[in-house]
Amino acid sequence: MIFKILTLFPEFFKSPLSSGLMGRAAEKGLMKFDIRDIRSYTEDRHNRCDDYPYGGGSGMVLMPDPLFRAIEDAKNDDTRILLTAASGRLLTQEIAGGLAAEKELCIICGHYEGVDQRVIDRYVDLEVSIGDYVLSGGEYAALVIIDAVARLIPGFMSNSESLVEESFEKSLLEYPHYTRPPVIDDMAVPGVLMGGNHGEISEWRMKKSIEITKRVRPDLYKRYIKSKILGE
Ligand code: ADE
Repeated sequence: MIFKILTLFPEFFKSPLSSGLMGRAAEKGLMKFDIRDIRSYTEDRHNRCDDYPYGGGSGMVLMPDPLFRAIEDAKNDDTRILLTAASGRLLTQEIAGGLAAEKELCIICGHYEGVDQRVIDRYVDLEVSIGDYVLSGGEYAALVIIDAVARLIPGFMSNSESLVEESFEKSLLEYPHYTRPPVIDDMAVPGVLMGGNHGEISEWRMKKSIEITKRVRPDLYKRYIKSKILGE
């Protein structure tokens, strides 16, 4: 998978994309990161990328022409173009799964009040929001999108089991985990996990997943119950 990132702050990505699992995956050649500075596509003396919005209002808008040039330079027939935006589609595990099947993603990091609509109309396949809050820059969102997508690419995780049994699979949050020691202060690991009965352990984990989902995410719990009723 190739990730092309169009940003005003290329240095932002250096450490996160070269550390940990992400860095290892890039070293293994599972993915390639191509970070491009939008400012290098300006043609005026001041390297200007933003301007005042027509019609007034606060904040600045990313200008179309540097972005047109940057996108034309980055894209090919395999490129799906995303824009980070608080007003975009909410990123879900399902959307991440769909994106993981693409050959090449180009992520435009939105800034200021947003991006000239003509960039979106001409080029953008999907506007993506990472949550119902406003960030100071699209770079944070781009990293979240990259991480959620990258870990679904075969070979990224060493244990593919962990992809199946995790939060949001089957609309449920994950059950609690424990490791050694068996008792710390007065807190013991639940006995069922120490007993070695795999049937009982699965049942306990499922029960905990349902309990936690009902308490923390009633919206997901509703979806889970609905899928149960429909026999999905
Ligand atoms: N830019 C500002 N806020 C954002 C959000 N929540 N998601 C994606 N991009 C953003």
